[in-house]
Amino acid sequence: MKTKIVLAGGSGFLGSILASYFATKDVEVVVLTRNPRPRADLVREVCWDGATMGGWKTELEGARALINLAGVSVNCRYHVRNRLRLLASRLDSTRVLGEAVARCAHPPAIWLNSSTATIYKHNFGPPWDEAGEIGGCAEAKDIFSVQIATEWERVFNEAETPQTRKVALRCAMVLGHARNSVLPNLLRLGRLGLGGNLDGGRQFVSWIHQEDFCRAVEWIIERPELSGPVLMAAPNAVTNAELMAAIRKVCAAPFGLPAARWMLEVGAFLLRTETELMIKSRRVVPGKLLASGFIFHHPHLFSAITQLTKHN
Ligand SMILES: NC(=O)c1ccc[n+]([C@@H]2O[C@H](COP(=O)([O-])OP(=O)(O)OC[C@H]3O[C@@H](n4cnc5c(N)ncnc54)[C@H](OP(=O)(O)O)[C@@H]3O)[C@@H](O)[C@H]2O)c1
Repeated sequence: MKTKIVLAGGSGFLGSILASYFATKDVEVVVLTRNPRPRADLVREVCWDGATMGGWKTELEGARALINLAGVSVNCRYHVRNRLRLLASRLDSTRVLGEAVARCAHPPAIWLNSSTATIYKHNFGPPWDEAGEIGGCAEAKDIFSVQIATEWERVFNEAETPQTRKVALRCAMVLGHARNSVLPNLLRLGRLGLGGNLDGGRQFVSWIHQEDFCRAVEWIIERPELSGPVLMAAPNAVTNAELMAAIRKVCAAPFGLPAARWMLEVGAFLLRTETELMIKSRRVVPGKLLASGFIFHHPHLFSAITQLTKHN
């Protein structure tokens, strides 16, 4: 019988790259989605609402792994209505999955739940591993995001699933070539001559190549000694200035106009997003992955971006 992996909220960017990755490994992939549709690949989509128990629960029986990726995109304005949607989509899905796992006769061996590297404090000092300081600060405008991440992990940790190992994926920005990932947008800015430093460029950016993200998920599934929070980031964070220089180089852009904080505020308002995604300094290292012997195929940003742009 084939091994089964269930991707809750697996119709988006990370779900799609994981589905493709595991499908090549002869794994049965099931996606829980609010809008199931027939697919040309071997992935099966099953309906759930991300909040209440339903027939979808039987899909978890005997699964090798449950991976929860459900959540309204953070790329939006954080007004009250969106704050509620961002929070509810993450807490409700995590809570109901916990109840479903607890009710299984043969629960999944492991449950990986999305979290984010944004949970760590705005940081210009040495990089933090999993034990780093958690918290938000007004300067980075990240207080709400840290609150989401903390609540998300609290609900996950509170789920009583004694037969199921649990890992919170504290994920940095995943670089991929799909249109719904960040990299194509950065490349577009670069080509338009807008690939200069953002807000001075000294803030750190933690990132991971999509292939290493998928390999690391598989690595965690296969290593029973890994549990709790795991940082999903390449070992070499860069500054925003280094990121934008790499983007300009890949685009062969002769120049890139820098953007001061006030310009980012105006741009973010017009594009219906938040400046926090650009101004917060995220400097982390994947302590647990490295200590367990994981070897990154793409540890350096420039070669990672170059490799990914070959697909464009
Ligand atoms: N991509 C990154 O670089 C990154 C980095 C750190 C953390 N994360 C986190 O990892 C998770 C997955 O990221 P992603 O990039 O794959 O996001 P994505 O492309 O936006 O996909 C998220 C999925 O969540 C589901 N969803 C949206 N609203 C929902 C709701 N109200 N109730 C239930 N499900 C809902 C959607 O599935 P259906 O519409 O099919 O139901 C969607 O496919 C997110 O929680 C994100 O915050 C991502």
